[in-house]
Amino acid sequence: MTRIVHRRDIIPGQTVEMVLHAPAIAAAARPGHFVILRVHPMGERIPLTIADADAAAGTITIVFLVVGTTTARLAQLSEGEEILDVCGPLGQATHLVRVGKVVCVGGGTGIAAMHHIAKGHAQVGNQVTAVIGARSADLLLFEEELGRFCHEVLVATNDGSRGVRGLVTDALRRHLAIHPDVAEVVAVGPVPMMRAVAELTRPLGIKTVVSLNSIMVDGMGMCGACRVRVGGEIRFACVDGPEFDGHAVDFDELAARLTAFVPQERQSYGCLGVCHG
Ligand SMILES: Cc1cc2nc3c(=O)[nH]c(=O)nc-3n(C[C@H](O)[C@H](O)[C@H](O)COP(=O)(O)OP(=O)(O)OC[C@H]3O[C@@H](n4cnc5c(N)ncnc54)[C@H](O)[C@@H]3O)c2cc1C
Ligand code: FES
Repeated sequence: MTRIVHRRDIIPGQTVEMVLHAPAIAAAARPGHFVILRVHPMGERIPLTIADADAAAGTITIVFLVVGTTTARLAQLSEGEEILDVCGPLGQATHLVRVGKVVCVGGGTGIAAMHHIAKGHAQVGNQVTAVIGARSADLLLFEEELGRFCHEVLVATNDGSRGVRGLVTDALRRHLAIHPDVAEVVAVGPVPMMRAVAELTRPLGIKTVVSLNSIMVDGMGMCGACRVRVGGEIRFACVDGPEFDGHAVDFDELAARLTAFVPQERQSYGCLGVCHG
């Protein structure tokens, strides 16, 4: 059982941040790692990125969007309550080396996952520019937190309510035109966003890392649920990733696999609170 030390609604009714007491995970967690947790004995196991870790305090931070049954159940838990089980840290840590200028792009809830990666790049001495985007200003996350260690934080909103009007790729395109010496781009967010970032950087020959949100079950490389095609080869996002070369990922297949269980997910969500009480 893992105790919730702190809980807050970052975006009321939509996005929740939780700080969990998990000393063993906090001590081992590196940027790029994730956990798999269960809220209910009969429920599914869901992966969530470790958005931050504090080894001294023995805590990890998760930030999640309420989209279905498990995230809705998780959001109902209060400070002081316990999560049934939290397993991790899982996945390969971000490859962090000093390369110079790095741009970390985050979309929606992906900004939280990108936060830990950007922090890692700053800690190894890279000059980090964060590019964050959301539909509108009230849906932006972690702008202030990123500002503490990033060289600059560029914001794009679809409605122009903050930063440049448009997509993160619009802000990224402008930035790369001014800084052609950017050595690496990292993108975390919805699949269409990560694909668009990879297509933007491909002709520029800039190394681009994406963090894939494939459906996971065991998180151990045994069930095959998270398989993705990268460079024509089958890889398992849970043990080989979740970060991969964005220029080599088969995004069509990833997008198709993410919708494989939509009817069952809808049925389960519709049932929440009625079937399980
Ligand atoms: C390595 C990894 C790290 C992740 N980190 C985070 C995170 O930090 N914060 C966060 O909010 N989410 C994160 N996700 C996505 C998160 O796991 C899903 O949102 C969650 O499993 C949904 O569970 P649910 O039961 O609430 O909804 P479900 O009923 O399972 O799904 C509801 C809706 O969400 C979509 N969905 C389900 N699983 C995923 C997925 N893996 N990616 C994208 N869409 C999905 C479904 O197609 C459906 O439309 C991560 C996924 C992976 C693989
Ligand atoms: S989640 Fe089972 S193999 Fe990756």
